[in-house]
Amino acid sequence: MASITYDKACCVYPGADRLAVDSLDLDIADGEFVVLVGPSGSGKSTALRMLAGLEEIDSGAITIGGTNMVGVAPKDRDIAMVFQNYALYPNKTVGENMGFALKMRGFGVEERKQKVAEAAKLLDLTDYLDRKPGKLSGGQRQRVAMGRAIVREPQVFCMDEPLSNLDAKLRVQTRTQIAALQRRLGTTTVYVTHDQVEAMTMGDRVAVLRDGKLQQFSTPTELYDRPVNAFVAGFIGSPAMNLFSAPLTDGGVSVGGATLAIERTALAAADRAGATEVLVGVRPEALGLSDDGQGIPATVALLEELGSETYVYATVDDHAVRTLDGGPVTLVARTPHRAPAKLGEQVRFRQTDPTVHMFAADTGARLGD
Ligand SMILES: Nc1ncnc2c1ncn2[C@@H]1O[C@H](COP(=O)(O)OP(=O)(O)OP(=O)(O)O)[C@@H](O)[C@H]1O
Ligand SMILES: [Mg+2]
Repeated sequence: MASITYDKACCVYPGADRLAVDSLDLDIADGEFVVLVGPSGSGKSTALRMLAGLEEIDSGAITIGGTNMVGVAPKDRDIAMVFQNYALYPNKTVGENMGFALKMRGFGVEERKQKVAEAAKLLDLTDYLDRKPGKLSGGQRQRVAMGRAIVREPQVFCMDEPLSNLDAKLRVQTRTQIAALQRRLGTTTVYVTHDQVEAMTMGDRVAVLRDGKLQQFSTPTELYDRPVNAFVAGFIGSPAMNLFSAPLTDGGVSVGGATLAIERTALAAADRAGATEVLVGVRPEALGLSDDGQGIPATVALLEELGSETYVYATVDDHAVRTLDGGPVTLVARTPHRAPAKLGEQVRFRQTDPTVHMFAADTGARLGD
């Protein structure tokens, strides 16, 4: 087991005009499960491959267990990788697939058998050891790929979108199993996904990347409750946080003639920055439908009924309130009710939770604490 540090680690691909990973700093504790998340092309896989030794570290450093990995060959890093395309050997049994790396390392038959049996037990694959991968479900194949990594008892697991080939239900099941397994084994793990729900549910801490740059590295709840900028605010959470620019007024921002109240520390920060307009972030669960004629007037554009709750999307008629692209704002609110409104109906949104996030209109940086 081992801690990992990225110290201003950079990677640039030949011919590229910008860094794929730009001065990445991460301090990962021994036994921690860290998720790298971000949109496509944000540098997640590159950052992981740098750790595994599959991409060059062009400047900066990466250490594992305190040892600088610059110049250390992948095979000498004591890392096991699990990829999206796990490519099992089709003509070998599950047991042979899992034990193959050990065979290549010169482990004897008995030792291999014992390690494979232990891993199979952990992964609930004992009954399948003699089957060929072609006769397994997607989730079982994924677990064989995990087994192949586990038997090696590495210092570090590196996983790159290992669940993306599975259907939605199996993904949820397998992600729970992987997270539980990692906790049992206590092996330091770096896990890459573009799925923010996966990131939030699996990681001890989550690193959000954008254009090769680290945006925030925090626990899931901290990311959700205190995003450091408008990008993280919009990326974490589903449906996404309502984000729009609006003029500041006394005690908050003005939206469709109503005032959305904002905490004093954030208002003071906006005041210090001399802002007259800010980016406002409100989670869908912090808005609801008003029944007293008060609140933000809006026209219902879409209803999403999920059974347990309904999301009401309604467009605000106020030219001073705009999306980040300058268009009209459609707010989404969560309500526990079924059929709470009709398409095209005029409703009013009220604030059901005092938490309103505020970001600087120019930089997107969080204002207040
Ligand atoms: N082999 C390569 N040669 C040149 N550029 C590359 C190479 N691999 C990746 N890139 C570029 O580096 C950047 C980061 O790519 P990377 O694969 O790390 O992104 P990612 O976050 O894993 O994206 P995805 O979610 O699509 O897998 C992108 O701009 C990509 O186009
Ligand atoms: Mg990738």
